[in-house]
Amino acid sequence: MTPLRIMSVVAARPNFMKIAPLIRAIDGAMRSGAPLCHTLVHTGQHYDREMSAAFFEALAIPEPDVDLGIGSGSHAEQVGRTMMAFEPVVTEWRPDWIVVPGDVNATCACALTARKEHVNLAHIEAGLRSFDETMPEEINRIVTDRLSNLLFTTDETADRNLAREGVPPERIRRVGNIMIDTLEHNRAPAEALDPVAILAANLIEDAPPRDLERAVEDYALLTLHRPSNVDDRAPLERLVGLFREELAARRRVLWTVHPRTLERLNRYGLWDAVLACDSIVPLKPLGYREMLRLNMGARLMLTDSGGLQEECCVLGTPCITLRENTERPITLKEHGGLSVLTGNDVERIRQAVEDMEQTPRHEYRPPLWDGHTAERIAAVFTELSG
Ligand code: UD1
Repeated sequence: MTPLRIMSVVAARPNFMKIAPLIRAIDGAMRSGAPLCHTLVHTGQHYDREMSAAFFEALAIPEPDVDLGIGSGSHAEQVGRTMMAFEPVVTEWRPDWIVVPGDVNATCACALTARKEHVNLAHIEAGLRSFDETMPEEINRIVTDRLSNLLFTTDETADRNLAREGVPPERIRRVGNIMIDTLEHNRAPAEALDPVAILAANLIEDAPPRDLERAVEDYALLTLHRPSNVDDRAPLERLVGLFREELAARRRVLWTVHPRTLERLNRYGLWDAVLACDSIVPLKPLGYREMLRLNMGARLMLTDSGGLQEECCVLGTPCITLRENTERPITLKEHGGLSVLTGNDVERIRQAVEDMEQTPRHEYRPPLWDGHTAERIAAVFTELSG
């Protein structure tokens, strides 16, 4: 029997933890005799070692079969260059299915290319909607879902969003959250890591020495990279002021600084003020397990990342989400999760930090966020191969 040819695409950091379990599950299905075959394409949207190669190693993702080397650029440049580079790959390999995870620019670019080449398209993490079309990711999600033949969803709200948009129910498969597969797979090895060693190995080079033993006793973890928070001077300056003067006065703040954010902090002359604050520990982007380990021990998370909202939910870390909206409402406190939305409004963040003092760590696991999502996806492909 000719195997079903599946090509999956990764591009940026949040994609890697969504593809690792899929590759493992497809391998497992093949070992049990399923007629499947898999090819991995990396578009190269993220290319720094700590944003890309480090994740391939830590998550045991095999070397990509094809690396498009797209790199950074404006949205049109990234989408356009990805389509141009991906098209000949599709015509050469002629997969039966192209699988795209998440909502980065490459997700949308490869979705368009797949369908223009008449290849079936499957989207992992379909149906998420922030209803905020100023977010580039929202455009990527809408376009990708509109074009997908199979839509793998994380929860009921995603199914409802797709139904409202007229997606036929037979295309939608609620399989759960594949990111949580990666979390569960790495939980034990992450737990075994020493947080002090993580800080020592990842402290940003030009940072003055910090008391790392003390830092891990009681800390908030901070990540920031959304254009709405970091691209313009005014909101970034307000946030840095709040972090330095108020957040860091309560407990240590471990800040893993995204390259986009570091560039802006330097450009606006704010970086020296961050380094000068003893209670802020500025860190390079962390490896997957290192981040997981620090998340497990955090008193509080402050983030504008979607994936971290979900990980906080399952790990039990109270999470202040520095966004006005979320495409992941299931993570919000009002739906049983641990996250509150504050945008980048200083007063709302201040209030949330105050409220979170009364919120101890507690875990919340939505249905099907059980570590077996990739196996359910592989089972769907096995069924299609028959
Ligand atoms: C992208 C995704 C976002 C995701 C985030 C995770 C889009 C529209 N955005 O945002 O959804 O949450 O990844 O990180 O796809 N840079 C480096 N090294 C790298 C990669 C980027 O220095 O390896 C710098 C470059 O200056 C680049 C900037 O970061 O211009 C932004 O990178 P880009 O890929 O455009 O978007 P992210 O902000 O990372």
